[in-house]
Amino acid sequence: MLDLLITHASLPDGRTGMSVAVQGGKIVEVREGALDGAQTRETVDASGQLLSPPFCDPHFHMDACLSYGLPRVNQSGTLLEGIALWGELKPLLTADALIERALTYCDWAVAKGLLAIRSHVDTSDPSLLPVQALLEVKKRVAPYLDLQLVAFPQDGVLRSPGGLENLKRALDLGVDVVGGIPHFERTMSEGAASVRLLCELAAERGKLVDMHCDESDDPLSRHIETLAFEAQRLGLQGRVTGSHLTSMHSMDNYYVSKLIPLIAEAGVSVVANPLINITLQGRHDSYPKRRGLTRVPELMAAGVTVAFGHDCVMDPWYSLGSGDMLEVAHMGLHVAQMTSQQGMRQCFEAVTSHAAKVMHLHGHGLAPGCDASFVLLQARDTVDALRLRANRLMVWRKGTLLAQTPQTVAQLSVPGRAAEVRWLAQ
Ligand code: FE2
Repeated sequence: MLDLLITHASLPDGRTGMSVAVQGGKIVEVREGALDGAQTRETVDASGQLLSPPFCDPHFHMDACLSYGLPRVNQSGTLLEGIALWGELKPLLTADALIERALTYCDWAVAKGLLAIRSHVDTSDPSLLPVQALLEVKKRVAPYLDLQLVAFPQDGVLRSPGGLENLKRALDLGVDVVGGIPHFERTMSEGAASVRLLCELAAERGKLVDMHCDESDDPLSRHIETLAFEAQRLGLQGRVTGSHLTSMHSMDNYYVSKLIPLIAEAGVSVVANPLINITLQGRHDSYPKRRGLTRVPELMAAGVTVAFGHDCVMDPWYSLGSGDMLEVAHMGLHVAQMTSQQGMRQCFEAVTSHAAKVMHLHGHGLAPGCDASFVLLQARDTVDALRLRANRLMVWRKGTLLAQTPQTVAQLSVPGRAAEVRWLAQ
């Protein structure tokens, strides 16, 4: 007896008319057409709509989310004013308020089919209040959302007194991943030193690495080179992520022709954050203004795993957002000009399978043996899903239905035309 059977589903790889069978929280069969003689407790007819693995956000800041306007709004719109503003907010934080905002955001995420989030958490303050609060959130959301935490020394691990000790204490408390921010250290050499010591710390402790790296328009900000070199030197291939890498947008092409193969050889994955970096970068430019997104299609073509993150929602750096990873991918495909059919599918993967790979998630996917975690979208395929930032009709995790949203249908009163609009070309 099956627990759940989805019929007539379209899948992200282009297969249509598929049945997906679920038992004990796992996918047990994926087959074209009907499952003969299958007995099931519940059947859902997908009616040709897209069944996708859940969205994953590989780069977020849950300790700051939903704090927009506290204590004031970022006037210049720059990264540096955002960091200064976060510094003003930190003394005002309470664990209860932080936990409540984070739980509210997780509700939004689940309703959008976003079931795994890697959040950086600021370790700069010796109180480690954000760390303690997000560890509590991680525990509370565990039944319905995978929350992975990165020890993030926002004020610089070398630049701020006690930075390294505080980060180590966060790891001792159970934070999963080693973070860093080399471009915010005082000098280029201090930045490189921070990359080296943090990678060594991760190697010693058997942790993954995910560093904010070169989030700058300065073409000479080249800490990704050190990060890739250290990943290789310490045998951390496949365990290291470079987040942002926006300086690559402004680098000399000749240098990049050497850098991208190094990143690929070192098995370093990349997370770009299109919404935030199209907003923050290029602020010192007049015209033309640089886009400030890393070189996504070129990295993908070299075999590097590239995922997209949301980074911020309603915080000192970014005033908008709702936990919608299709909005992130939509911006990514525009800014990276990935408008071919293949490019758009890759952008969809950047917020699903690629993001899951960056996070080392197990059981993500639509194949027998994977978790029965998936999202039914009001779209026929991945391109439609991006175009419409499609409705998440039903969201399941491990076979349990977590969220539902009604179909969006407009009633039209136009003479001689259909009474309903669903925004489908045919
Ligand atoms: Fe970030």
